[in-house]
Amino acid sequence: MAANLHLDADSPTADLLRDSHGRWITDLRVSITDRCNYKCVYCRTGLHGAQYAELSAQDYLRFIQSFLSVGIEKVRLTGGEPMLRRDLPQIVAGIHAMRTRAGHAPEIAVTTNGHLLEDLAQPLRDVGLSRVTISMDAVDPATFERITRVPGSFTSVLRGIEAAQRAGLDPVKINCVLLRGFNEDQVEAFAHFSREHGVVVRFIEFMPLEEDRLWTPEMVVPLTEIVERIQRLYPLTVLAPTTAGETARRYGFADGRGEIGIIAPVTQAFCGACSRVRLTSDGKIRTCLFSHREHDLAGLARSGASDEQLRQFLLQVIQTKEARHHIGEPGFLKPSRSMVHIGG
Ligand code: 5AD
Repeated sequence: MAANLHLDADSPTADLLRDSHGRWITDLRVSITDRCNYKCVYCRTGLHGAQYAELSAQDYLRFIQSFLSVGIEKVRLTGGEPMLRRDLPQIVAGIHAMRTRAGHAPEIAVTTNGHLLEDLAQPLRDVGLSRVTISMDAVDPATFERITRVPGSFTSVLRGIEAAQRAGLDPVKINCVLLRGFNEDQVEAFAHFSREHGVVVRFIEFMPLEEDRLWTPEMVVPLTEIVERIQRLYPLTVLAPTTAGETARRYGFADGRGEIGIIAPVTQAFCGACSRVRLTSDGKIRTCLFSHREHDLAGLARSGASDEQLRQFLLQVIQTKEARHHIGEPGFLKPSRSMVHIGG
């Protein structure tokens, strides 16, 4: 293998992996199912998307161990809706028992719609979950349920948020995808909600990742507009990124109570700081949300590859990580899978 395929001795800890564009690859996102109990209007638009295979907990754990061995430090479990898998606690416990190259337990986070979180927050915390991010696109119940298309979902999610806080998952983060014409009026309400409930709210610019072709540039509510609108209510101060691969621009309320963030992949792309690699529920590696190519890790494992062969495969695949995405540019091609099949 070429010299640049090994772990980089210049890294801050000598344990991290650098890709061919000089980025430290420290975050793994694993989709453990592409089933979902919500049908959010901007995600499952057609309700006809293919369902991919799911792997056993044992397979995910083997692959995650492999990723840790090349320098991954943080694992986020996503879906679909990851809480639909009954063995989620076993998966979290299995990851918690592993060690990163630096010798500590990996940070483990889950992204969930929150529907089943009320009962799962404490059990997951008990087996090693560090943090949870809840997708919540409105604080007005009627708007919320118009988006999820599930009656009663708003109350379930609120209970889930409270349970996560009681369990000591800290900070509890809320992801809100803003869509012009659907929930753009929720910005100010979310600023209040963040302060009242002690949660970090992160607004996300809408990306072309839905099953159908809903996305237009006009539907994106840009970072600048979100900041201006909140500033009219509460003065904001800019906060420093928490990690090198931080995707959100962070803002605190000037009185110190509450925090918001804005993830702006469309108007302020952060590909240069991207630290992520993804594994789909059927065991394919994606090096970018917008990749057109997948790398079949599960296939390699099925053919009898050793742990060392899996590790070498990861090192090679990570070197093919794209420099950046091309949202909004002429000739942009939608990725080969939609968000519900990739995981956030
Ligand atoms: N654009 C931006 N964010 C999206 N999410 C889902 N689909 C999109 C999209 N098209 C969000 C989810 C979840 C996170 C992982 O990504 O709401 O919180």
